[in-house]
Amino acid sequence: MKGKFPIGIFDSGYGGLTVFKSIAHKLSAYDYIYLGDNARSPYGDHSFETVYEYTLSCVEWLFKQGCPLVILACNTASAKALRSIQQIDLPEKYPNNRVLGVIRPTAEVIGNFTSSQEIGVMGTRGTVNSGSYPIEIDKFFEQVKVYQQSCPLWVPLIENNEHLNEGADFFVQKYIHQLLEQSNQIDCILLACTHYPLLIPKINQYLPKHIKLLTQGDIVADSLVDYLNRHPEMEERLAKNSTRVFYTSGDVSSFNEHASLFLGQKITAHKLNS
Ligand code: DGL
Repeated sequence: MKGKFPIGIFDSGYGGLTVFKSIAHKLSAYDYIYLGDNARSPYGDHSFETVYEYTLSCVEWLFKQGCPLVILACNTASAKALRSIQQIDLPEKYPNNRVLGVIRPTAEVIGNFTSSQEIGVMGTRGTVNSGSYPIEIDKFFEQVKVYQQSCPLWVPLIENNEHLNEGADFFVQKYIHQLLEQSNQIDCILLACTHYPLLIPKINQYLPKHIKLLTQGDIVADSLVDYLNRHPEMEERLAKNSTRVFYTSGDVSSFNEHASLFLGQKITAHKLNS
């Protein structure tokens, strides 16, 4: 296909907007299409097969819009669908397109943020049970011990806009406590779900001050800058008119309302008609 095309950004819903925000800031010249699969989210408790099927259908839709490069700005999709898409679907059906996730770029640098060599990873059940973080981190930082905690109530609290209300305190405290109970040497915690940055004000209330809290937006954006420098053949296929277009498979007005919270700016999304 000739011409220049946008970068596709995919998430199960709104969470990917926290990553998109950093990417669009660092790589502001490029065009972007964001797709949130709100109609079928949250993905966190779905099986491997379901997350793969949903994620692939969204990636294929972004390919149809012309995007040669798609970022899975969702840990759950990166944990459960990325490998199959990269190893099976791309070579067979889309050999010239690329799909990148958020787990590997994070694993590549996370060891630089710990002195004790013990880190905590908080994510959805899907991400935690997949074991993707311990496996990937071990490839780059063999000496780092990874403790994981799933936080199944955090995404629903955020999606129902209850995350900064009093009721959220119980579950914020509970999951932090369960993680820190596993080791008192943890000095760095990764928020391994793109929704969780919205909970930071509450998390900070319950997190001991010496523990660093790490989010993924800037890490993924830096990694994409590096990727485009190393892959000029992909870079030259990308359009640079600074356009941003948002699609949701769910309710548009609800998406617009939530998206403003995640992105810090007003947007007008389109309804996905597959
Ligand atoms: N934003 C997704 C992630 O990073 C989780 C939300 C969901 O469960 O759909 O894992």
